[in-house]
Amino acid sequence: SICEVAQASSRDVDAAVAAARGALRGWSALAPTERAKYIFRIARRLQERAREFAVLETLDSGKPIKESRDVDIPLAAAHFFYYAGWADKLEYAFPGRTPRPVGVCGQIIPWNFPLLMAAWKIAPALACGNTVVLKPAETTPLTALRLGEIFEEIGLPPGVVNIVTGDGRTGAALVAHDGVDKIAFTGSTEVGKRIASAVAAPRSDGSLKSLTLELGGKSANIIFEDASLDQAIEGIISSIYFNQGEVCCAGSRLFVQESILPTVITKLRHRLASLRVGDPMDKNTDVGAINSRAQMEKVNHYINLGTHEGAIRHDAGTGDLPSRGFYCRPCFFTDVQPSHTIAREEIFGPVLSVMSFRTPEEALLRANNTPYGLAAGIWTDKGSKIFEVARKLKAGVVWINGTNQFDA
Ligand code: NAI
Ligand code: MG
Repeated sequence: SICEVAQASSRDVDAAVAAARGALRGWSALAPTERAKYIFRIARRLQERAREFAVLETLDSGKPIKESRDVDIPLAAAHFFYYAGWADKLEYAFPGRTPRPVGVCGQIIPWNFPLLMAAWKIAPALACGNTVVLKPAETTPLTALRLGEIFEEIGLPPGVVNIVTGDGRTGAALVAHDGVDKIAFTGSTEVGKRIASAVAAPRSDGSLKSLTLELGGKSANIIFEDASLDQAIEGIISSIYFNQGEVCCAGSRLFVQESILPTVITKLRHRLASLRVGDPMDKNTDVGAINSRAQMEKVNHYINLGTHEGAIRHDAGTGDLPSRGFYCRPCFFTDVQPSHTIAREEIFGPVLSVMSFRTPEEALLRANNTPYGLAAGIWTDKGSKIFEVARKLKAGVVWINGTNQFDA
């Protein structure tokens, strides 16, 4: 193990919420341009410390250093820059309305993009004049704690952001707390449902908390026969194997037009074999370690289930995986039926289900046949098809001939 981290009790959560409440009046009364200066300073400090953060993130989470260095840390800094710019423009964004802070925001985040998730949650809340109690995931609290030090280093007033570590019990105490005005959560659908019902109970003064939930996904990519195939394959590879598939909007279902199915499968196998799985600290590693033993066991359970239900598994190579740590060989399944568990449930690992379709209508029907709706991708050269299909896909984000665009 690297270190020990405290399990915050409900008394610790009380103290954090009290600090956030105490800081609220001063922080929200600051001139927006002054709030922006603090947030810009956070962004710059993050940039200066980028290497340290990248190493810490990879040590803690198992994601490849290449990704924490080139994606997680720069994007986290970019979000602080972006939201700093909003602080003094909010009054112009909603004509006729005066935006007001919500108050004390309780924010609970998962382990797949630890620092980036913290940035997504904290930066906009601060820009709008809120104060924060953040609970990082129990397996990945280190970059959030280091970020807490940065807040002190740049002189952010005490109490504006408070970080409490611990598992679901700490999270539940934060959700139940009467002094919290809003809960923002990213994580499993199961816990999201539990939080929604807890937040449905009015507070002691009769008011309700606000709530934002970002939950699971089973996103679809659709490749049409007229697509630029090599470009599409690169996109698919990045869509499902990026961050070991531990991505909420991972394109875990692939629908391929029937005429090009054999070609796509051949190209996928070929590209999969070239992925390097291994030591996350090695800068040549493409697929790092699964975040925890529990998550690895969950992914392996689904892989076994896929074979058991009759789908055919295609693996990435046969080389040895490191003997220490939680590794999973990236794979994809063909001969997948829509009723198969691997085609329906979120796996959150490097596992792709490949299915085929004949017409755009059939692709749409099958892609939309899911209770989820985070993201989707379309691969085609035809502009008319892009507009037609994108409009009818039930997903919050639709990427066209591309994937994983997370600009602020
Ligand atoms: P989780 O939903 O239990 O954990 C996410 C966060 O919620 C963590 O900070 C955790 O400590 C906290 N939490 C857990 N129980 C809580 C409760 N009762 N009240 C308040 N906070 C609570 O997710 P977990 O168990 O780590 O992963 C399970 C599955 O969830 C994964 O296999 C994956 O399928 C999915 N997941 C989806 C994510 C997404 O971004 N869509 C992120 C993480 C997990
Ligand atoms: Mg859980």
